Amino acid sequence: MAKVKMLRVGSDKSISHRAAVLASVSLKKVIIKNYLFADDTINTIRALSQTGVDININGLDVIVNPKGKYSLKEPDDVLNMGNSGTGMRLLSGLLSGFDFLSVLTGDASLRKRPMMRIINPLRQMGAEILFRYGGLAPLSIRGKRNLNGIKYKQNIASAQVKSAILLAGLFAENDVCVKEPFKSRDHTENMLRFLGVDCVENNNGVCLGNNRVPLGDCEIYVPADISSSAFFVVLALLMKDMNIILKDIGLNETRSGILRILSQCEADYEILNRRVLNNEPIGDLVIKSKSALKPFVIDKEILPALIDEIPILSVLAIFCDGVSVVKDASELRKKESDRIKSICDNLKTLGVEIEEFEDGFKIHGHPGHKINPCKIETHKDHRIAMSFTILSAVSGVNLDIDGTQSIKTSYPGFFEHLSYILS
Ligand code: S3P
Repeated sequence: MAKVKMLRVGSDKSISHRAAVLASVSLKKVIIKNYLFADDTINTIRALSQTGVDININGLDVIVNPKGKYSLKEPDDVLNMGNSGTGMRLLSGLLSGFDFLSVLTGDASLRKRPMMRIINPLRQMGAEILFRYGGLAPLSIRGKRNLNGIKYKQNIASAQVKSAILLAGLFAENDVCVKEPFKSRDHTENMLRFLGVDCVENNNGVCLGNNRVPLGDCEIYVPADISSSAFFVVLALLMKDMNIILKDIGLNETRSGILRILSQCEADYEILNRRVLNNEPIGDLVIKSKSALKPFVIDKEILPALIDEIPILSVLAIFCDGVSVVKDASELRKKESDRIKSICDNLKTLGVEIEEFEDGFKIHGHPGHKINPCKIETHKDHRIAMSFTILSAVSGVNLDIDGTQSIKTSYPGFFEHLSYILS
């Protein structure tokens, strides 16, 4: 008999960041239900509090009592965004609309990540931004109350860049439009509309309309994070006789690329209780073990919709029957670690045949693949740490994984959830 388990994974990180940021410049109170209390998203509410926003925590909820769009005050200290690229890039966009000085920094990993991608458009909009050699944080930003409009064509699909421009765009008077080569996650656009801001899509792009005042006076429900649920999806597939119901998952099409991979693998899954809350589709995902899984291909079209799932999908690929391919993914080298290198080096040590390319890799998998007990280098990257923890659980091989503390940046309940599922 299959073991049946039910789980609500941690709340969505991307939606939590956006809810905190947009609530802070709304006209009226916003209650954020089921906020993610992980290091990254706690840093975002702390930074917003440092700019004078009245933010309170009540159980699982965050209650924001904003004073309108122009109410933020100059912080009297540096804003430390920790490990979070999203936190730093979104706040840079928002703070570009204020004519005071903000200095944003982060941990050693964040201080190595590229920031020119937001600095360039925000400067074009009129913000003064200083940065470290190579376009690195710390960043110092002196914004402007009336920014210039911008029609910006991104050369990469990045929701962080798009969101930084849209947030700054709330403080611009003229046209603000962003175009991207492939559509990245659109939570910012959905939330802007939910809060009453005009935000319209036009062929692979998005523009702000005349009304740029977030109204508030509402509740924003944060669904469970599809990126966090991916760890348990892969666990369910690879364990024997396992059936997991993952409750309340955000199923936004710009995030749910993993479902298309499950179809490529011919995995058994079902979605129940589909509904929409604050413009975001949600549902329960039922996933079952499967012994014969087909390999998969990830290319530029699907990439933005599963960019954060590639480490755990690489674990899946070890056990698929054939060669799985990840291509057009050089952006992975600019995440919390160089994820192409982190994946390839660790898989090699494990005894998996993997070919590394500048923009991806090929994994030669087969069902029942044996792996070597070895040391895993996570480079303090939370998703690498969680992926190899899942590999250890499904293979029964003890892996010495360094740096699992990083997991609390996005999913502090991970180990507790894993023990429950394995119990
Ligand atoms: C995120 C966007 C993605 C993703 C990150 C979260 C967001 O980054 O990898 O974990 O919340 O906007 P990019 O915008 O750099 O693609």
